[in-house]
Amino acid sequence: MNRCFYFGTNLKMYKTASETSAYLTELAALTEDLTDEPLVRLVIPSFTSLGAAGTCAHKSVRLGAQNMHWEECGQFTGEVSPRMLRDLGCIDIVEIGHSERRHVFGETDEQCGKKVLSALANGFTALLCVGETAEEKHYGVSDETLARQIKIGLFGVDWEMLEAKRVWLAYEPVWAIGVNGVPAPAEYVQERMHRMRETVEALYPGLSQNVPLLFGGSVNPENADGYAAQADVDGLFVGRAAWTAPTFNALLRQVLPVWKKRCSAL
Ligand code: PGA
Repeated sequence: MNRCFYFGTNLKMYKTASETSAYLTELAALTEDLTDEPLVRLVIPSFTSLGAAGTCAHKSVRLGAQNMHWEECGQFTGEVSPRMLRDLGCIDIVEIGHSERRHVFGETDEQCGKKVLSALANGFTALLCVGETAEEKHYGVSDETLARQIKIGLFGVDWEMLEAKRVWLAYEPVWAIGVNGVPAPAEYVQERMHRMRETVEALYPGLSQNVPLLFGGSVNPENADGYAAQADVDGLFVGRAAWTAPTFNALLRQVLPVWKKRCSAL
């Protein structure tokens, strides 16, 4: 099992650079005492906020980009390349295949796979998001969907990348995300994430425990403990409930003891 608890947020298209700076500065002050905890904290701001974020995030907060093109440069208007992210000097995670990228902007599994390979080749940690739609859940093909997204998304990834813990997965059921999302039952989440772990294990025997599995989708103070208590949940990837520094801090302090208790019971 993972020895660290992962906790973080994707700020989507909400905060400006100055708002992101204020958020990260407040968060740094509120969470200063957590430095020695077995914790990986991550914040994924908008592209235009990344430069400012690099100057004010607490050193223990890992910063990520919400997306990235797989090419170094080229005729791809509106895209951001690995070279551009590297140049910022403060990014070490690239989020790939978030539900909104896949379902609003039509990103395919193949494109996500190219982004994962490119992110890893450029020295980043790849955070690949997977999740089934309500329709796929209805027809009972959730596990097949997740396995397909993982197999194509990690196609060609070298086992050394898993060994170095540079491949993370976020399970985010499409139907559970955002203002219209319905929170998923914790047992359902555990079942899916256990199957995800099995898929990774089949691809990379002996290495599935090296891949942190995060859960996201309408995580809030009411349901977060239930998720953190599940055996295959290594962390929480939170949206709305962590978009102010005090709510990020409070939710983190709420779930960390739940995760620790689960680990000490093993
Ligand atoms: P939410 O967002 O917690 O607001 O549902 C989760 C996500 O999209 O990662």
